[in-house]
Amino acid sequence: MATPTSPAFLLLLLLHVFLFLLCSSKKGHTVSANRTTKNHFHNVHANSLLPSSVCDQSNKVFNRASSLKVVSKYGPCSVTGDPKTFPSAAEIVLQDELRVKSLRTRLSMNSSTTGVLDEKKTTIPSTRYGGYTVAVGLGTPKKDFSLIFDTGSDLTWTQCEPCLGGCFPQKEEKFDPTKSTSYKNLSCLSEPCKSIAKESVQRCSSGTCLYGVQYGSGFTVGFLATETLTITPSDVFENFVIGCGEKNDGKFSGEAGLLGLGRSSIALPSQTSSKYKNLFSYCLPASLSSAGHLSFGGEVSNAAKFTPITTKFKEFYGLDVAGISVEGRKLAIDASLFKTAGTIIDSGTTLTYLPSTAYSALSSAFQEQMTNYTLTNGTSGFQPCYDFSKHANDPIAIPQISIFFEGGVEVDIDVSGIMLAVNGLKEVCLAFRDNRNDKDISIFGNLQQKTYEVVYDVAKGMVGFARGGC
Ligand SMILES: *[C@@H]1O[C@H](CO)[C@@H](O)[C@H](O)[C@H]1NC(C)=O
Ligand SMILES: *[C@@H]1O[C@H](CO)[C@@H](O)[C@H](O)[C@H]1NC(C)=O
Ligand SMILES: *[C@@H]1O[C@H](CO)[C@@H](O)[C@H](O)[C@H]1NC(C)=O
Ligand SMILES: *[C@@H]1O[C@H](CO)[C@@H](O)[C@H](O)[C@H]1NC(C)=O
Ligand SMILES: *[C@@H]1O[C@H](CO)[C@@H](O)[C@H](O)[C@H]1NC(C)=O
Repeated sequence: MATPTSPAFLLLLLLHVFLFLLCSSKKGHTVSANRTTKNHFHNVHANSLLPSSVCDQSNKVFNRASSLKVVSKYGPCSVTGDPKTFPSAAEIVLQDELRVKSLRTRLSMNSSTTGVLDEKKTTIPSTRYGGYTVAVGLGTPKKDFSLIFDTGSDLTWTQCEPCLGGCFPQKEEKFDPTKSTSYKNLSCLSEPCKSIAKESVQRCSSGTCLYGVQYGSGFTVGFLATETLTITPSDVFENFVIGCGEKNDGKFSGEAGLLGLGRSSIALPSQTSSKYKNLFSYCLPASLSSAGHLSFGGEVSNAAKFTPITTKFKEFYGLDVAGISVEGRKLAIDASLFKTAGTIIDSGTTLTYLPSTAYSALSSAFQEQMTNYTLTNGTSGFQPCYDFSKHANDPIAIPQISIFFEGGVEVDIDVSGIMLAVNGLKEVCLAFRDNRNDKDISIFGNLQQKTYEVVYDVAKGMVGFARGGC
C-alpha cells in the first residue's frame, strides 16, 4: 500500500506533475433570409425562463430495460440536492471555457491566433464540471455511485479509499476496493493498461498499472482496475475496466466520478458492446429540476433522424452542421464554414460554440426578431441580452432557432436552450457563444440538446435526434 513517502505515492505525485493544459484559437457577418413556414416563435412566460428549486418528478417514466434516470447535478433532483449550487452564468462560462480548452488540446488543434479562451488567464484550481449524473453500481456487494456521464471522455472512474493523494468531497461514501470481492488491480502488461497509455498518462508501480487523466477542470490519478459494474439488476458487467482514483480534484459537485461514454476501447460503449451493441441514448430534461434518462442498447426510436458521425475526429463524436435557421429563415452562411474545423456533440459542455461568422449571423437575425424587448448590455460575454423584468407577467415571443445537420436532420432548439437567464429577468441572453474565429471546432452543447432523445448508434456511425425524448 502506498504511504505518503513511498515510491507509489511519489509516482502519483509525479503523474500529477506530468499532467498539463494548453490551448489554441477572426470575424465576419452576413444575414439573408428564406421563410419556410408560419409561426416560428415560442410564446413563453418570462418566469419560466428562471430556474426552479423544486424537483419535478412528473416526467415520463422510462420502461426500457436498460435505462438510468438522469439528473442535472446542479438541480434540486441531484444527490447533493442543494439548489444553492446552481451555477451563475459566469461560472457556466468559466467551466465551459476550461472544458472547451481541454477538448481542443486533446485534438491538438494548432492555431496561432489568440482567441477568447487565451485572454482569460485566470487559473481556478477547482471549478465545477458541467454535466448530468446517473447512479450505477460498483463492486461486490454492489454499492451505488452517482457519476457524471461524459461523451467527451473515455475512462469510467470513481474516487477510491484510501485517497492517498487527496479526494474532493462527495456525497456518497467513497468506494473502498478492500471491501469488494470483485476488485482487481490491472497489471502493466494488460491490454487496457496499454490502451490507456495511448490516451492519457500511464505509469507502472511494481507491475501495477497507474493512470492519470486531466480534465478541463479537474484530474484523477490512481490504479487501473477491473470491477463489477451494475447498470441495472439484469445488466451486470464483470471485469469492467475502471479507474480507482486515489488522487483527484476538481470539485465535481459532490458526485463520485465519471462515466466515460467516449469512443475508445476503454469507454463504456465499447466495453459493453456485447450486450448493448455500441448503442446508447440520453434525454436531458428542459428544466434542471426534472429528470431525463440515459439508456443503453435496445430498439432505436422510429422518430429519430440520423446524421453520420464524421471521420474527422477519432476521440469525439463529430457531426456535420449544415446550417442554422432563426424564426424559420435559414441564415446565409457558406456551407464550407462548418466544415473547416468541424463540430462535436458533447454532453459535458453547456453552451453551443459557433464560428464567428455563424455566430454573428445568428445574433443579428435573433435581434431583428426581438425588437419589441429592451436590449441590455450583457455580462460574461453574452450578447445580445434582454431585460424582461417589465414583462414578468406577459408572454414573451422568442424566435425559434434550429440547427440542421447533414442528412436533413433538423433540431429545433427547446426554448430552454435559446435563452439563458444570466441575472434573473433583468438579463436574459442568447445562450450561444462566439468562437471568436472561424478556425476552431464548434461544439453542440448540452443546453441545446435538451428534450431531444439523442441516440448514439456508434456501431452504425450515426447520431440521431428524436423530439420529445423526456
Ligand atoms: C492494488 O495495488 C495497490 C498498490 O500496489 C495495493 O495497495 C492494493 O492492495 C492492490 N489491491 C489489490 C486488490 O490487489
Ligand atoms: C426559398 O426556399 C424555397 C424552397 O426551399 C426555394 O425554392 C427558393 O429558391 C428559396 N428562396 C431564396 C431567396 O433562397
Ligand atoms: C503551431 O503553430 C505555430 C505557428 O503557426 C508553429 O510555429 C508550430 O510549429 C505549430 N506546432 C505544431 C505542433 O504544429
Ligand atoms: C411586437 O409587438 C407588436 C404589438 O404587440 C406585435 O404586433 C408584433 O408582432 C411584435 N413583433 C415581433 C417581432 O414580435
Ligand atoms: C452599454 O455599454 C456601452 C459601452 O460600455 C454604454 O455606452 C451604454 O450606455 C450601455 N448601455 C446600457 C443600456 O447599459
